[in-house]
Parts: sequence; C-alpha cells; structure tokens
Amino acid sequence: MNLFEAIEQTMRMLRPAMGAGIDVVLPRGCAVGQVRIDRGALVQIVTNLALNACDAMPDGGMLKLATSDVVLDAARGNRGAYVRLAVEDEGVGMDGETCALAFEPFFTTKGPGRGTGLGLATVRGLVQQAGGFIEVRSEPGRGTTFDVYLPRVFAETGRAAELDQRP
Ligand SMILES: Nc1ncnc2c1ncn2[C@@H]1O[C@H](COP(=O)(O)OP(=O)(O)OP(=O)(O)O)[C@@H](O)[C@H]1O
Ligand SMILES: [Mg+2]
Repeated sequence: MNLFEAIEQTMRMLRPAMGAGIDVVLPRGCAVGQVRIDRGALVQIVTNLALNACDAMPDGGMLKLATSDVVLDAARGNRGAYVRLAVEDEGVGMDGETCALAFEPFFTTKGPGRGTGLGLATVRGLVQQAGGFIEVRSEPGRGTTFDVYLPRVFAETGRAAELDQRP
C-alpha cells in the first residue's frame, strides 16, 4: 500500500474521536514508496500513536504525521530502504525513564481505568511483524516523536528493496 494514502484515510476516520483543540497536520506532496503491511495493523498503529499524542495534549496542540522515504546505511544497524512515518506531538513529553519503559506491556502512567499500557507494546509488535522497527524521541515539556520504519517494497516484484538495487 501507499503509506501516505492509508494514513490519510485512517486520520479521516479518527478525527471525530479527537478533541477539537487538536490540530492534525499531514503534509501533502510527499510521495513515498510502497510498504507491505496488513491494513488493520496499520490502522491500529496509527490509532494508538495518535490517541497517545492526544492524551499528551489535554489542552490541545499540533499532531503532525509525516511520511518520507529514507535509506539507512549499516551505521544505523538497519541497512536498507524504508518508508518512515513520524508521529509528532507537542504534548507533555517523557523523561528518559518513561521513554525506556514506554513499550513494555502494561506500563502506563495513566490513572486506573484509563490506560491498559498495551498500546505501544501492540504497536511495536505489529511494526516488527511487518519487518520494521520503531524509535521514540522525547523530552519533558517539549513533546514526543515516534518514528515508525517500514521496509520499502517494489510494487513490480513485491520484494523488499535492496540498497544496491536502487535506481
Ligand atoms: N505521545 C506521548 N507523549 C507522552 N507520553 C507518552 C506518549 N505516548 C506514550 N506515552 C507514555 O507511554 C505510556 C505507555 O503508552 P501505551 O500506549 O503503551 O499505554 P497507555 O496509553 O498508557 O494505555 P493504552 O494505550 O493501553 O490505553 C503512557 O502511559 C505514557 O506515559
Ligand atoms: Mg496508548
């Protein structure tokens, strides 16, 4: 699928569930390559990340979802061609300790009956099942960015793109 189009559709569905104070920004015109991922999995990934961002911005703010093609070299440990989804908020952010625990099943800072702490554990599992990986950058008071990397595939062959096969 085309990641940008799938995200656009998902956000259209999610918008009514988000507070009026949330400004969703989804830059157009960033043509990206194809990825192979179950549509339901992608919806779950985007939903969990977007709702976490909304929770982090109780007084509203900007939620930005940006897609781009990236090529990683061996120095990054995940050599290859990827399509990256960056989900960025300007919410409360996380300290180092919270960041380190965020993907653990049942880790939550939300009150009883509010969060199960399974959102990010599920997201990471789904991203890994699709052959990708996820990273987080955050600072208390300065917002959070989750970067989801999904392997880029060539539509013609359906095979994962190899660095040295790039045009
Ligand atoms: N965008 C974010 N900004 C700040 N903190 C975040 C953000 N996303 C996740 N976190 C932190 O990571 C914790 C775990 O997130 P996760 O989505 O796994 O669980 P949850 O949101 O608490 O509950 P659930 O998603 O199961 O309803 C959150 O409780 C919160 O402390
Ligand atoms: Mg969550």
